[in-house]
Amino acid sequence: MTTIAPITPADLDEWLPLWNGYLTFYEAALDAEITAATFERLVDPASGIHGAFARDDDGTAIGVVHWLTHPATWTTTDYCYLEDLFVAPDARGTGAGRLLIEHVRDWAEEHGSAKVYWLTAESNATARALYDRVASHSGMIQYQIKTA
Ligand SMILES: CC(C)(COP(=O)(O)OP(=O)(O)OC[C@H]1O[C@@H](n2cnc3c(N)ncnc32)[C@H](O)[C@@H]1OP(=O)(O)O)[C@@H](O)C(=O)NCCC(=O)NCCS
Repeated sequence: MTTIAPITPADLDEWLPLWNGYLTFYEAALDAEITAATFERLVDPASGIHGAFARDDDGTAIGVVHWLTHPATWTTTDYCYLEDLFVAPDARGTGAGRLLIEHVRDWAEEHGSAKVYWLTAESNATARALYDRVASHSGMIQYQIKTA
């Protein structure tokens, strides 16, 4: 059975391949210092960035999710932003992704966030097949301005 487990400071070697797999999926490359800082913040309860693994029967980390909360003008509580979700290719289709999203929803409920939301590429049909089952499509599209 797939279970959810926290990410601890001892888990860097398990987290790294999942994180790198996620970056490769997005054809993205990040400086090693950013990856190191991200892991440090994930395992620092005071950082505001949270994460969890999905582990299989053998205890192997097969998926990962990261999230954070922020204040919002449309609620007196917080919104919870699910930033990263990745399941190892050979573990897909077994419910790990769904379980990771449910974990963030439960966490958000427990911590008083008014909603969980996330972004995905319009073309990410695999992810959207899952999202359409567990969430509602807001209809919003994203714009961004990068700063120097
Ligand atoms: C998106 C992703 C996290 C889904 O993880 P997963 O563990 O395979 O998802 P699940 O096994 O929980 O699938 C949940 C549902 O989606 C369905 N599903 C999964 N893969 C599917 C596919 N390729 N086509 C259609 N439906 C699919 C399953 O049937 C399941 O539905 P059900 O529970 O009602 O039977 C995974 O494919 C992934 O890591 N992709 C690459 C990275 C990525 O796209 N991340 C998200 C970026 S926003």
